[in-house]
Amino acid sequence: MFLNVRDFEEVARTRLDPVYYDYVAGGARDEVTLRANEEGFQRLSLLPRVLRGREKRELDVSLFGSRASMPVLLSPTAFHRLVHPEGELATARAAAAAGAIMIVSMASTVAVEEVAAAARAAVPDRAPALWFQLYLQPDLEFTEALVRRATEAGCTALVVTVDSPVLGLSERNKRNGFTDLPEGLRCENLRELRGGEPGSVRQIVMSPELSWEHVDWLRRHTSLPILLKGVLHPEDARLALRHGVDGLLLSNHGGRQLDSVPSTVDLLPEMVDAVGGRIPVLLDGGVRRGTDVVKALALGAAAVGVGRPVVWGLAADGERGVRRVLELLREELDHTLALCGAGSLRDLTPDLVRRTPAGR
Ligand code: FNR
Repeated sequence: MFLNVRDFEEVARTRLDPVYYDYVAGGARDEVTLRANEEGFQRLSLLPRVLRGREKRELDVSLFGSRASMPVLLSPTAFHRLVHPEGELATARAAAAAGAIMIVSMASTVAVEEVAAAARAAVPDRAPALWFQLYLQPDLEFTEALVRRATEAGCTALVVTVDSPVLGLSERNKRNGFTDLPEGLRCENLRELRGGEPGSVRQIVMSPELSWEHVDWLRRHTSLPILLKGVLHPEDARLALRHGVDGLLLSNHGGRQLDSVPSTVDLLPEMVDAVGGRIPVLLDGGVRRGTDVVKALALGAAAVGVGRPVVWGLAADGERGVRRVLELLREELDHTLALCGAGSLRDLTPDLVRRTPAGR
């Protein structure tokens, strides 16, 4: 029985090839940051208000023009066909049915046009909410063409991942010899990228020489909202404002890039402070429960993303699994709001959160 997100991870672990399980579950080096993300939430406790709730709670949000049924979105994760034959098609259908925003990874194993078509077919009566994640490539012609493809496919925001000047190093992957996708799977958005075997993972160029000029370049080449994913230093948040960025997704890549960075929820207050309400700050990393969502929103996040929970849902039970993971998070969020005496997300204020851990 799937009662919570962790149940999905357990089933995924028994179903998946251990090499692929490790790819998803693992983090960089000693996995200190990977663990810190979940622990960061556990170190915070909630202090509920009483006698002021509502019979029905409002969970809807509107972000960069996308309407969503809850402030929980699908963070971009690569290679969904590694864990389920329908891959991103199943994920997109589930996200659309749940009314959740899906950020399609540039490294998806289904082309962005097909992902968008699957989402549209799942909800013929409304536009599904799709955003596109991008690793800026030094081949700007390719990057521009890919942004155009994503835009024409119906993605309405760009999430530019900036925490990967080089690839993070997972020692699990190294030990397992996992370096590329198996026969038959390709990064379908990358076939046009010059150099290397078309669609191979190794084609993605992580470029340490990327700079704010590239963000300016992108700003000139798209009218879509631009969010930066992976900004951790408050000074960089301030620079992002100066460069016309529309939002930040506070993320340490689920502990997969630089190990030893703090948990995202620990950094959140500083980040919210740095942008001073001028642009929304979203957060991902370690969100596993409705209580985690409430803590992040109370501390100022506009929404949170989930990475691994979606992949566990997909691996365990395909489209239905992802759908259930999203439903569980929505149910838990609603239940937590009720228990906190909050009628809507607007009632979530920093005074609900205490730094005294509830457990241990
Ligand atoms: C990721 N993440 C990621 N991020 C990104 O910008 N582009 C990508 O292609 C991927 N791919 C990817 C694959 C897998 C298997 C994982 C687990 C993660 C990072 C992802 O967007 C997100 O930041 C984290 O997953 C959030 O942490 P949790 O929810 O997994 O704890």
